[in-house]
Amino acid sequence: MNLKAPPIREETRNRCVVVPLTNELSQKLVNISLEQFHFLFEVQKIDFSLFVSIEGWLVEFIKPKEFSKELLDEIWSACLKPKGSFRVCIWRADRPKFEAVINQVRSKKLNRLLAYVPHMDRKTLDVYGQLSSSSQMVVKGGIDEEVVSRVRASASQIVSSVLDSQAALYTLSKMIACDPTLYDHSATVALLCAIISQEMVDRPMSEKEVMHVAECGLFHDTGKTCVPSEILNKPGKLTPEEFDVIKQHTTFGRNELVDSVKQGAPISDLAIRVAYEHHEKFTGRGYPEGRKGRLETEPESGIHIYSRICMIADVYSALLMKRVYKEAFEPGQALKIMIESNDDYDPLLFKPFVGLVVDSVKKYQNKPATPQVLAYDKEAKGKIIQVGAGRSAAESLRTTQGSDAEKSKDNASLENDLNRRKGA
Ligand SMILES: [Fe+2]
Ligand SMILES: [Fe+2]
Repeated sequence: MNLKAPPIREETRNRCVVVPLTNELSQKLVNISLEQFHFLFEVQKIDFSLFVSIEGWLVEFIKPKEFSKELLDEIWSACLKPKGSFRVCIWRADRPKFEAVINQVRSKKLNRLLAYVPHMDRKTLDVYGQLSSSSQMVVKGGIDEEVVSRVRASASQIVSSVLDSQAALYTLSKMIACDPTLYDHSATVALLCAIISQEMVDRPMSEKEVMHVAECGLFHDTGKTCVPSEILNKPGKLTPEEFDVIKQHTTFGRNELVDSVKQGAPISDLAIRVAYEHHEKFTGRGYPEGRKGRLETEPESGIHIYSRICMIADVYSALLMKRVYKEAFEPGQALKIMIESNDDYDPLLFKPFVGLVVDSVKKYQNKPATPQVLAYDKEAKGKIIQVGAGRSAAESLRTTQGSDAEKSKDNASLENDLNRRKGA
């Protein structure tokens, strides 16, 4: 192996164990997402080592006894300026310890919301917590029987909890606005898939089907694990070539799930189909194949109903969340953007969804707010801020972020094309 010197500071080189990253070592490691990594700012200690891999080298960056927020900060800054092959990872064997920490932090955050934000629905937050922990297992790759059974258990909880759709929609959007670090794309999509399926007026779905659509929602973006993070999280406009790479996540997802089935994971054919089809648009302008209409009436070229549901859930979910390349939208704004291109969606599904969001906004927006809520600012690395009455957490975050917020707002409005606003 002919490696250049690792691109790390001398101080780090002296403090840490640095070894070439062989294939054998790679097999023993598992990457962790930025979202999960950020949860570690909430803990005082860890009982596993955190590694970074960079350009063919593996660095044991934080050992349990050396754990500090300063070292987390160093990794976080490096993550925000992605260089080539920079990744944060842990030993595969430490995954249970890591997940226990993440689940603990998530539940602390959800309880904090319940205590401080009015009208939050506890059942929705409980279900969301379960979905999010399953979703994190999916995005780590290597989907096996255990992951599939966790996904099924969390999807079935949606139905067994008998969620009120309006309360669930409100809780979901408020949760994302008040604590963006809790946002988990696939968990949000899964919950929205179930809500849309439950609200279908022309063809009521059985509980089993609702669970199945939610399950498909949890697997829909499996292929994104195969897209380089520097493209996935790139601020500003993507080049046409980069956008082509992002588009491939549908094919990557299908292939990944098919491989998992070959290894014995009991993933349904429909979950594979949704992973492949969830960016197809009703009028045929989507990808990867430009399918259009309903499979029920167009068996050759139509889109499966589960994929049509997932597509609406996917776009709405992506619009609610602030990303490095776009601002967050309130439910009403998100809906307005979707209505501007409403022929992308099956009207039989989209119309009831619009009605539901409108009713949910009407029902909850005039409810009195508490004097303050707590919000967690990701960019400020864990700073807790107070949000005054009558202002949303997002507004207060923007105020505290000052010129940076203005800059990203300008970037968002000037740079982003519609596809990216909708989560590509
Ligand atoms: Fe996708
Ligand atoms: Fe998605």
